[in-house]
Amino acid sequence: MSDIEIRTLDEAQWRESLGLFRAALHALPVTDEQWAVGRKSYEPGRTLGAFRGDTLAGTAFAWSSDLLVPGGGVLPMAAVTRVGVRSDQRRRGVLRELMRHQLIDAAERGEVFAALRPTEPVIYGRFGYGLATRGAKVVASPKNAAFRPEAPSGGQVRLVEPDEALAVMPGIYEREGRRRPGTIARPQYWWTVFYERAFAAAEHIILAVHSGPTGDDGYLMYRPTQGAAPGTNATLAVEDFVATTPDALYGLWRFLLGVDLVDEVTVWARPTDEPVEELLVDSRAITSRESRSDLWLRLVDVPRALAAREYGPGSVVIAVEDPLLPTNSGHYRITADGATRTTAPAELSLDVAVLAMLYLGTWRPQSLADVGRLRELVPGAAARADAVFAVREASWSGTFF
Ligand SMILES: CC(C)(COP(=O)(O)OP(=O)(O)OC[C@H]1O[C@@H](n2cnc3c(N)ncnc32)[C@H](O)[C@@H]1OP(=O)(O)O)[C@@H](O)C(=O)NCCC(=O)NCCS
Repeated sequence: MSDIEIRTLDEAQWRESLGLFRAALHALPVTDEQWAVGRKSYEPGRTLGAFRGDTLAGTAFAWSSDLLVPGGGVLPMAAVTRVGVRSDQRRRGVLRELMRHQLIDAAERGEVFAALRPTEPVIYGRFGYGLATRGAKVVASPKNAAFRPEAPSGGQVRLVEPDEALAVMPGIYEREGRRRPGTIARPQYWWTVFYERAFAAAEHIILAVHSGPTGDDGYLMYRPTQGAAPGTNATLAVEDFVATTPDALYGLWRFLLGVDLVDEVTVWARPTDEPVEELLVDSRAITSRESRSDLWLRLVDVPRALAAREYGPGSVVIAVEDPLLPTNSGHYRITADGATRTTAPAELSLDVAVLAMLYLGTWRPQSLADVGRLRELVPGAAARADAVFAVREASWSGTFF
């Protein structure tokens, strides 16, 4: 019998919970000024506290979002964040209890997925989360970036102030930013955490909006840092880059690589299949491209999740094991016509965390079979599953939380 009790924290307890989370990351408690904005980032009913007696030993939060899956379906998702355990309470099962309650809560709310972006990836696989999308950190040297004549010229780019930014960016994200599988809804909570907080702290942020024939269709946000040594120029660190039409996307790249007095541009996460190098006369102006983890996904409702996405040609029967949410365990037949439970013998056997890695098409079943992450029970089944789970373009989330 566990001595840990999980309770839903009310508004009066949110600040203590945030203090605990920040302390777990070795950060100071929030000031009154920070809390005036920070409190708006909480969604009622979604902050869990783990108590040992009267002591708040750990906390976990989620906000309500959704996930775009291959084929265009959009299903509800819990975006999990602010997970922390007091350092004098660690390794005694507090996180395990928080994770279990949070997943059951998500299931009861009808959420099909949970997702997070861990500081330490080794922790969450045991709770059924798997790395489901990857992104590319792209670094460019603008002074060498001459554009090919056939590269899209883009439309108009204008710099905007915070008020206008918050008025136009959420709409652009919903219209233009939700095409790829893996993208998630950004409710008001997200805009508060990511932007309002930075504006309130007067952080040095530049916002640029792109307009095409139908109006505003993309934007980017970057932080400039002045060069430290004499004779060096600034660096620009792009943290949010939203556009899907080629004109808006490459118009913003053109703007970014054309800002004066800049030695280096870093874009923290782009889709892995975006061919920025091919815009340029000399591809070496892109000085590095690093593959990074993006979204960690948990299938909370496996039957609904499997039924929701589209599949490629062929057919495969998989056995899924989910010790934490056992109603998900069982056999599923997956074909181009959809996915349903079956009593047919399994051809592949896998943990629910590995299913999350396959779900958005980022990993091939055969590759994961090769490294032992899933078991092939019928020869050739993993190669068949490759075609079934394949996606047309790389999945990508691109929303930090
Ligand atoms: C990471 C953290 C939340 C773990 O909480 P905890 O209460 O100590 O975890 P638990 O005791 O419930 O451990 C559950 C399991 O995870 C493992 N685990 C927990 N933290 C781990 C870590 N940092 N590295 C490797 N394994 C870890 C435990 O060994 C245990 O494994 P088991 O299932 O084999 O028994 C806590 O140490 C913490 O707050 N750390 C600092 C902040 C942080 O990293 N937050 C996560 C942000 S994504």
